[in-house]
Amino acid sequence: MGSLRETNPSLWVATAPAGATVSAFDAASPAGGPVDVVVVGAGIAGLSTALALLERGATVTVVEAGRICSGVTAYTTAKISSLHGLVYAGLAKSFGDDVARSYGEANEAAIGQVAAWIDEHRIDCDFSRRSAYTYTASTVTLEDVAEEVEVAQRLGLPASFTNTTELPFEVKGAVRFDDQAQFHPRNYCLGLAAAILAKGGTIHENTRIVDVDEGSPCSVRTEDGLSLQGDQVVLATHLPFLDRGGFFAKCHPTRSYCLAVRLDDGASPPKGMYLGADDPTRSVRSAIGDEYVIIGGEGHKVGQDEDTTRRYDALESWAREHFAVASIEHRWSAQDYSPVDGLPFVGRQLPGSKVSVATGFKKWGMTNGTAAGLLLADELTGRTNSFKPVFDATRQRTTLTSRDLYKENANVAEHFLGDRLSSLRPPSADTLAPGDGGIVTCAGDKVAAYRDESGVLHAVSPVCTHLGCLVSFNTAEKSWDCPCHGSRFTIDGEVLQGPAVADLEQKPTT
Ligand code: FES
Repeated sequence: MGSLRETNPSLWVATAPAGATVSAFDAASPAGGPVDVVVVGAGIAGLSTALALLERGATVTVVEAGRICSGVTAYTTAKISSLHGLVYAGLAKSFGDDVARSYGEANEAAIGQVAAWIDEHRIDCDFSRRSAYTYTASTVTLEDVAEEVEVAQRLGLPASFTNTTELPFEVKGAVRFDDQAQFHPRNYCLGLAAAILAKGGTIHENTRIVDVDEGSPCSVRTEDGLSLQGDQVVLATHLPFLDRGGFFAKCHPTRSYCLAVRLDDGASPPKGMYLGADDPTRSVRSAIGDEYVIIGGEGHKVGQDEDTTRRYDALESWAREHFAVASIEHRWSAQDYSPVDGLPFVGRQLPGSKVSVATGFKKWGMTNGTAAGLLLADELTGRTNSFKPVFDATRQRTTLTSRDLYKENANVAEHFLGDRLSSLRPPSADTLAPGDGGIVTCAGDKVAAYRDESGVLHAVSPVCTHLGCLVSFNTAEKSWDCPCHGSRFTIDGEVLQGPAVADLEQKPTT
């Protein structure tokens, strides 16, 4: 889920057509009849799944809580690459070369599929082939970079070592992958949606799903109490909103920040796509015919930073230090889920379930989301997919033995208890200045309140509708963010981001 309602619209949202709204689901329409697969979520994973299913002869309906590609996919840096930081050395150590190789090959195949769909459906989305780099400016990390090159080469990936880049500062060394790509993700997804409709698929926007009953067929229930039927259901909602597979405890959410800047006349943006291996991490790529440079970074756990505005300030300082910045045109933030054992979860949510999931793309959703779509389409139409064991969503051995599983859930528990204790005696709402938000006392109740710039107070329940943690105020995005599993809400309580599916309850302000 997600929204074009974010306070800071991304470059991708600001420069793509809003598009005509595809109708919300209507049970009386003939398109409401049973289909082979109902796909929930119209970001890159859901749309890729739907198109691949149609190509394999299945009938498909896609339902989206907001607008097509209005959520996570519209708020990324949109690099289409199998170079994911320094991932291969770690995967090879944890799982062995075969799994690490399969992960790389699945992501390489995804790059090829994106290019093929763009070609076949003539999608105008600023796609261009670029090299990707993971660089270090520190001698301390140089060994890790060299090891990543060695492992990636051993796995057969297009890796080489270089210490020559276009970055405007000294780089000690970098992993370079050739023949990767970048694009405009919202324009790409709007193209996928058009291809789905042309192939006879159905898409319903503004249709939030709140439950799935696994019968024969499955019944997928909307928040308005309507139901769609499908033999199989795919939850491509970033993190599944159903708790049955426990993915909320096996993936942890982070937010990170982006700026789209214009450079002074005559200054050239880098052509390659860069990601730093050092702290603080920085991401750099050009966009839209090299008109902009996107600078990203400043990741932190969702709902666990008291002043997110400083994150944009830190990126701006870094951008001005290293580039001839003429203007900052757009700023936005992204949300990502990282799996505890380092591999995405794609496939049946539980053994034998008719509900499948695709989650835990750990910031690499353009390729992992596409790979997930191909895998799910194969699995649901009875085809073999060699990558299936690597992404198996029901795996237990590596998740239950992962140290991160316990560390991340201990962090959730700490927040759950800590936030409750610290908010036992909240200050009065009168203490909120215009533009401020926080948990306060208002009309005798404990509420999450925001005073807007004109002085009007907005108050909602501070209790997250997913599993009851207390939300915290996000100063930069003017949203209520849950520190436990990453649900986000507007200042008036509407769901911006799951796993929550219910809005925060409105509270009186007088
Ligand atoms: Fe799980 Fe809020 S997202 S409790």
